[in-house]
Formats: sequence, structure tokens, C-alpha cells
Amino acid sequence: MTTKTETYERLLREAGSLFSGESDLIAKMANMAALLHQAFHFWWTGFYRVVDDELLLGPFQGPIACVHIAHRRGVCGTAWAEARTLVVPDVEQFPGHIACSAESKSEIVVPVFQDGKVIAVLDIDSDRLATFDDTDRHYLEQLAALMTA
Ligand code: SME
Repeated sequence: MTTKTETYERLLREAGSLFSGESDLIAKMANMAALLHQAFHFWWTGFYRVVDDELLLGPFQGPIACVHIAHRRGVCGTAWAEARTLVVPDVEQFPGHIACSAESKSEIVVPVFQDGKVIAVLDIDSDRLATFDDTDRHYLEQLAALMTA
């Protein structure tokens, strides 16, 4: 059976060649969301971009989602404000969690940095509790960094 680590290693290799020579952020986000979603079949996989002092829905795979998220609101707004990855094993326990879908049970949000500033977040939701761990954090941070490499 293929392990999660093996799958992430494959994605890193694929993403490296997929994105080499590409400079458009939205195009890269679209393919990254597709790559992750096809590999892991998460409930929701996508990006929010920082636009005019809020998070604005970007390329994603999965059901329709909230379009605007304020600074410090929910898991995404908090990861943006704190400029760090947040792993949430049970979204019901996260103060201010924004329930775009009742199916979402656990979540990881990884900031995308450019010149030391958060310019977007990669948000992944699972329909099962406690889906994400340090392996996900480790690899998703590397994959998110490819957006601005
Ligand atoms: N649950 C997120 C909102 C985004 S969606 O789930 C796609 C949050 O609390 O930030």
C-alpha cells in the first residue's frame, strides 16, 4: 500500500515539473488544488488569496465555499493573522470556525508567503475527524511554498 509520505513525495516531484517556468499564481493554485484533490480525495482543497484586506476565494476542488473571510476569522483568517500553519483535528472545537459545509470535520490551513508576507492560504477540509498530522503539515508547507518559488 502506498503511504501518505510516498504520495506526498510523488506530488512534490510532479509539482516541481508542473510549475517550472510558470509564473501565474492563480494557474499554479488551480493545478495544485487539482493535484492534491486527485491524490487524496479530500472533502475540499483550495486557496484563498489576500485581496483588499480580506481572504477571497481562489481556485479549489470540492463543493461551493464561502467567498469572503475576514482577517482573524475562522481557521483560515487565524492562520493568515498568525502567519502559521494551523492543524485542527475537530473544527467544532475551534472558536469562530466558519462552517462552509456541515460535512467538514477537520482542517489544515497553510499560509503562502511572498517576501515574508502571507499572500494566500491553502485550506484543506476533511469529512473525517483528525485527518491531518505533522506529515501533512511538513509536505503541505513545501507544496504551498512552490506557489511563490
Ligand atoms: N472552514 C474554514 C472556511 C473555509 S471553508 O471550509 C472552505 C475556516 O474556518 O476558515
